[in-house]
Amino acid sequence: MRRWLNENLGIPVMLLLRGWALNRLIANLPIAAIRYAYYRIVCGFSVPPTSAIWMGAQFTGGALDQIVIGERCSIAYDSFWVAGAAIRIGNDVVAGHRVEFYTSDHDPDDPAFARRDAPIVIEDHVWIGSRAVILKGVTICRGAVVAAGSVVTQNVAPFTIVGGNPAKVIRMRGATEFTYQINGTPLFS
Ligand SMILES: CC(C)(COP(=O)(O)OP(=O)(O)OC[C@H]1O[C@@H](n2cnc3c(N)ncnc32)[C@H](O)[C@@H]1OP(=O)(O)O)[C@@H](O)C(=O)NCCC(=O)NCCS
Repeated sequence: MRRWLNENLGIPVMLLLRGWALNRLIANLPIAAIRYAYYRIVCGFSVPPTSAIWMGAQFTGGALDQIVIGERCSIAYDSFWVAGAAIRIGNDVVAGHRVEFYTSDHDPDDPAFARRDAPIVIEDHVWIGSRAVILKGVTICRGAVVAAGSVVTQNVAPFTIVGGNPAKVIRMRGATEFTYQINGTPLFS
């Protein structure tokens, strides 16, 4: 279906579907199944039935089909995904409201303002606090926690809690095994 759309509707229509329609129309539909079908058919990535991306999520970039969401994840309201490269979310990841992922930026020293893309990897059992910003090339390792409002510019070691701008280690997480489980999208979220 996505290949057919690419081949037959041309770039302007695809931009409309992956820009305005995705971010202004689909994003705010209260029926998650419709949003997830659109993500799969038009954008090329899937949200597993055990996981959730709540309403208001906005996406941009040429690598939307390289967004990978693991099992039992919950990404709360108004997440923002700049996918110029892959964004890979592991299993059992929880993200608060308005978390932002930026795989792309520009070289500030380059007269041509060259674009730079690098993937973001979020490993299993990471918790990302609300309004955190995750920058390109960052891996947040298993079980780590990002405090609310942090800007993560470098990799985060397993089971560490980081916070601030730029995010620095606050302390180690007090558990390395977890019993909580997300299961799907709450009604009207
Ligand atoms: C990261 C967090 C879990 C820390 O919890 P905690 O360990 O109980 O934190 P404490 O209040 O004991 O603070 C520990 C230290 O971290 C600092 N800190 C806490 N939150 C911080 C933040 N968001 N940014 C920067 N530093 C932070 C505190 O100032 C304190 O520093 P100090 O030791 O120099 O005084 C919590 O602050 C947080 O950000 N929660 C996320 C909230 C959220 O997004 N909720 C949405 C639900 S998914």
